[in-house]
Amino acid sequence: MDHFLYRDGALHAEDVPLAQIAAEVGTPFYVYSTATLLRHFEVLDEALNGMDHLVCYAMKAASNQAILKTLAQAGAGMDVVSGGEYLRAKAAGVPGDKIVFSGVGKTADEIHMALTGGIRQFNVESEPEMEVLNRVAGEVGVIAPITIRVNPDVDAKTHAKIATGKSENKFGIPIARAREVYAMAAAMANLEVIGIDVHIGSQLTDLAPFELAYQKVAELTETLRADGHTIRRLDLGGGLGIPYARSNEAPPLPKDYGDLIKRTVGHLGCEIEIEPGRLIAGNSGCMVSEVIYVKSGEGRDFLILDGAMNDLIRPAMYEAHHDIVPVIEPAPGVEQVPYDIVGPVCESGDTFAKQRMMPPLAAKDLVAFRSTGAYGAVMSSEYNTRPLIPEVLVKGDQYAVIRRRPTFDEMINRDSIPEWL
Ligand code: LLP
Repeated sequence: MDHFLYRDGALHAEDVPLAQIAAEVGTPFYVYSTATLLRHFEVLDEALNGMDHLVCYAMKAASNQAILKTLAQAGAGMDVVSGGEYLRAKAAGVPGDKIVFSGVGKTADEIHMALTGGIRQFNVESEPEMEVLNRVAGEVGVIAPITIRVNPDVDAKTHAKIATGKSENKFGIPIARAREVYAMAAAMANLEVIGIDVHIGSQLTDLAPFELAYQKVAELTETLRADGHTIRRLDLGGGLGIPYARSNEAPPLPKDYGDLIKRTVGHLGCEIEIEPGRLIAGNSGCMVSEVIYVKSGEGRDFLILDGAMNDLIRPAMYEAHHDIVPVIEPAPGVEQVPYDIVGPVCESGDTFAKQRMMPPLAAKDLVAFRSTGAYGAVMSSEYNTRPLIPEVLVKGDQYAVIRRRPTFDEMINRDSIPEWL
C-alpha cells in the first residue's frame, strides 16, 4: 500500500498534488511519502513481533538524511556499507549502537571510523577482513562485536546482478568453511563473536530461497554452539521483493516472511536483525518527469522525457520495469497508444520502456515513474553534465526539498585545471 493516489483527477503524494511540486522545484525530481515509508517500516517491524528484533534499514536504497531521520525516529536501525554511509547515518542522528556495518571490502579507515564512533556490529565477510578488524580494534583499544556472513549457496532466483547467495558470488564465506573461520575469529583477542549473518539477494519474489537459507543458518547456529561459540544474534539480511508492475505482481507479504523467520530460527532464542532496503523505500517514492517532445519514428512514437538514465538507471542496468503513469488522470475509457519512453541522453540504452501503452500525451505533460524510491536517486549520476535531480519529502499537506538541484556553476567548478594548461 502506498500514498500516491489520484484525487480530483490529479496524482498526489499524500495531500500534495505532484503538479504543484513540479511547478515549484522543476522537473525531473524524486518525491517520497513519509506515511508510506513509515507504513512499510511498521509492517515489517510488526511481522517480527514476539521476537527480540531490530529492523536495520539498508540505507543504500535511499540515503537522504531526511529519510534516515524519519525511519530512525520510528525506531529503525541502519545497515551501512561504507564509511560515507556510516557518517551520513550518524549525521542523521542514528546512534552507533543501532548501526550495522556490512560490505565485502571494508577498509582499515572505515573500520577505524566505526570503532571510534560506535557500532552495533560488523558483518565480517572474509578472513583478511577479520585480521584487519582485529588489528584496528587492538589499536583503538576496544573489542569489536562481529557476525560472520556466510554464503549458503542458495539460488535467490532474482536478476543475476543482484543475486548474492550463490557460491560463485563474491559475498560471505562458504558455509562449508564456517566452523574453521569461526574458530579463527574466536582465537582473535580483539573480536567478540556474537552471531551469524546471511543475505542472499535482492528483489526476491518467492519465499522458498529465504526458507532454505534460514534453515541452513539454524543448523549452523546449533553446530557453532556445540563448538562452544556464543551465537545470540542472527542478521538475516534484506531482499524481500516489491510489486513493480502493479497489475500482475503479488510478491510475498511481510507477515508471511515474519512467520517464515519464526518457523525457521524462532526456536533458537536469538535476537533477530533484518536489513530491508527496497521494501521500505521502493514504493515510497516516485520520479516525476516532463515530456519534452513527442517524436514520430518509423512505425513508433517516442515520448522524449526530461528524465534520463542518469537519473534512474534501473531500466538500463537490470531491464527493470517501472509503471509510468500520467500525473493528470486520464479520462475514463480513453484509448491507450504505444510509446517508446526515452530520455535525452545520447545512448540507445537510455530507454525506460518500449511500446508501453499510455493515454495520448503531449509536450509539457507530466509523468510519474512509480516504485523508484529505492535505488533511484542513490544510483543517479551527472552523466552528460546533467545535474543530480532534487529530492522532495511529503508529509500530509507539507512538503520540503530535502536535496536541492545543484547549479551548473557548482558542477563545473568542481573540476580543477592543472597549472600546465
Ligand atoms: N543487506 C545487504 C548485505 C545487501 O547487500 C542489500 C542489498 C540489502 C541488505 C538490501 O536489500 P533489499 O532489501 O533492498 O533488497 N541496485 C539494485 C539492488 C542492489 C541491492 C544490493 N544489496 C536494484 O536497483 O535493484
